[in-house]
Amino acid sequence: MINKLIKLKDNTLKPKWFLRQAGRHIPEYYLIRNKHDNFIDFCLNERSIVEATILPLKYYNIDAAILFSDILLLPHFLGQAVTFKKNIGPVLEEICIDKNLLEKDIDLNGFITVKNAISQIKKTIPSSKDLIGFCGAPWTLSCYMIEGGSSKDFAKTRTFLWNNEEKFINLINKLTKHCADYLEYQFLAGCTVLMIFDTWSSMIPDKYWVKFGIEPTKLIIERLRKKNVKCPIIGLPFKSGEMLIQYSYEALVDVVSIDWKTNLEWALKYINKNVITQGNLDPVILSCDNPLAIKKEVYRILDLTQKKCHIFNVGHGLTPEVKIKNVKYVIKLIDEY
Ligand code: CP3
Repeated sequence: MINKLIKLKDNTLKPKWFLRQAGRHIPEYYLIRNKHDNFIDFCLNERSIVEATILPLKYYNIDAAILFSDILLLPHFLGQAVTFKKNIGPVLEEICIDKNLLEKDIDLNGFITVKNAISQIKKTIPSSKDLIGFCGAPWTLSCYMIEGGSSKDFAKTRTFLWNNEEKFINLINKLTKHCADYLEYQFLAGCTVLMIFDTWSSMIPDKYWVKFGIEPTKLIIERLRKKNVKCPIIGLPFKSGEMLIQYSYEALVDVVSIDWKTNLEWALKYINKNVITQGNLDPVILSCDNPLAIKKEVYRILDLTQKKCHIFNVGHGLTPEVKIKNVKYVIKLIDEY
């Protein structure tokens, strides 16, 4: 339905799906996850990818599936060891951004199980539902690769940037190429929508915002369009503040995903009118015990976007605390609106 919305620009269509819909808030997720010793193995196991991707569609009447995978598969295939530690998150081994790394290529054959999973999923889900393939934006990938994991301020990454601008740019350029190649690979395998997650765009120093927050995404999309990848592309410049507007004009995305911090009225007023919007619901509201609060928030978003083309979604990923009954309630509210 996302493809239909983009083609017809019909604002009565209100496609809906949820960031991180296939994750830890669904009990069966753990049955799949516990089959694997580590998360990367899970992300590269054909059967598990298929099961986890279609799991939320069994629970919810949603319009898209998002491929079960992770943005950190790219650093993994660049040879950087990636592990996921309970209560900590991803841990990446220390890297040296030298000639060796910068000249290292990624063999896309490493993704063969992902490709096979995509064709399986396509056979399983109705053709009216989109399958979303994705990657991390070069800035966000660089953050994880240099910092070695998540961080409250990514100070190590920013220190590296101020000390070694040229090396940092080389890394960004390298990742830009790999992201484009990997998105094209997912498209050719059967994904009908692509998404670029810039989860840490709030950490880009102002001086570099256009260079690292907009240009890499723009280059990725130019590259994809040259290769005849025609599907809709969603960008998520998470907590990008006022830069969201320039991003909407220059990054070449078809859809801009709006986080839960951003004032939706402001965003709708200033955003490029040619892009479609997505998101804004605070995912944490889906963990609460207050149906009235949920109803008011869902209506607030539906009222503001009534005459716009908008994809209903949360403003960041669903957390393990999210209650299935709340997600079902949101879907009911949208369908009956
Ligand atoms: O359901 C879906 O949306 C599809 C799968 C998906 C995952 N990761 C699975 C996953 C998607 C789209 C991602 C993208 C991703 N991965 C992003 C960008 C989106 C965002 O949330 O901002 C980022 C920053 C990552 C990196 C990453 N992977 C982190 C920081 C973590 C651990 C902490 C966390 O947020 O859960 C992961 C692990 C991960 N990726 C899990 C899942 C379901 C949890 C693994 C587990 O413990 O079972």
